[in-house]
Amino acid sequence: MPGARALVLGIETSCDETAASIVADGRVVLSNVIASQTELHAEYRGVVPEIASRAHAERLLPVVREAVAQAGVEPGELRAVAVGNRPGLIGSLLVGVAGAKALALGLGVPVVGVDHVRAHLHAGLLTRSAGAPAPAYPALGLVVSGGHTSLYLCASHLEMTKLGGTIDDAVGEAYDKVAAILNLGFPGGPSVDRLASANAHLARTPDKDGFPVARIAPDSLDFSFSGLKTAALYAFNGVPENERTRAKRLARGEPAPERWPAEAVAATFQAAAVRTLTLKIERALVRHSECRTLLVGGGVSANSALRSALDALARDRGLDLRLPAMEFCLDNAAMIAALGHDVLASRGWIGDDLSMSATPTTGS
Ligand code: KG4
Ligand code: ZN
Repeated sequence: MPGARALVLGIETSCDETAASIVADGRVVLSNVIASQTELHAEYRGVVPEIASRAHAERLLPVVREAVAQAGVEPGELRAVAVGNRPGLIGSLLVGVAGAKALALGLGVPVVGVDHVRAHLHAGLLTRSAGAPAPAYPALGLVVSGGHTSLYLCASHLEMTKLGGTIDDAVGEAYDKVAAILNLGFPGGPSVDRLASANAHLARTPDKDGFPVARIAPDSLDFSFSGLKTAALYAFNGVPENERTRAKRLARGEPAPERWPAEAVAATFQAAAVRTLTLKIERALVRHSECRTLLVGGGVSANSALRSALDALARDRGLDLRLPAMEFCLDNAAMIAALGHDVLASRGWIGDDLSMSATPTTGS
């Protein structure tokens, strides 16, 4: 059908969101349905894999039906089905993969499995109305989520080389752990963000009177957030003492270790977390000064302080910043449909064969 919109159904089940979306021509989102399982996992303060898989199995078809209805399209108009098949919780991924294959087989259209982390870098290219102009490549890509913190050099929208990643916690994971330390509930990112933003005047300066920024090595593009998380823990609870250190302190007549209020911990943590991310972007731009575009994605790209810092950085350096709209920051299926569209278009719409399966790890 020359001239017709290429409609792709995206399916996302890698963690605790069951999502389906219809995207036209890889960029224009017609529907973006997300059934979050947050309430099912909240009492465990983390995602319970078996609960997640069962919930995906119950919700997948209703969510797909809703996405098709909201988009106002007929199932027969779909050109392909794309599914996030890596990385993630294996049981959860398998529900999405099995559903995607069955739907594609039933509709007689190709199915393609795509990488969830790379798909986050397509989130900033999505719009609700007419397509935005395509970004210039090469681009620098930053994925900041609950499971990943990675920098990529993107030669095109499909060729991405990983430049660095976290050697311990992901930034979103550090946010969630700091929220637990401060008793703010799960998922913690939004609540730490709110507390930090409301108390930005209490933020102490990273690396000075505030928390440390992990540099790792002078030219490293890897990230580390576990030291920052521990600094927040000690600031809130006081530096732990054993009998010997306590006796020494008392002998010196020093007071008990300082304990900071939650507001100051959140604000100081956010300042250091954001600086850790911008520092590595600055380093990557030194090495890859040819990049004129900065693509950002993942749940933490919803963070207010990070968004402002990236805006300022991009303005200073004349970079085209592609930050996702808020509805595309967290896990969603529109980004899966977008990447799936691009992969299929590059292959002449030849899909994966039905041996395509789920993998818990990323290929990159
Ligand atoms: O991309 P995502 O939905 O799932 C993964 O692929 O991991 O990201 C979820 C993560 C969680 O760790 C959550 O706490 C964090 O994104 N997050 C935030 C904010 N909103 C969500 N972190 C900081 N500030 C926020 N506003
Ligand atoms: Zn994600």
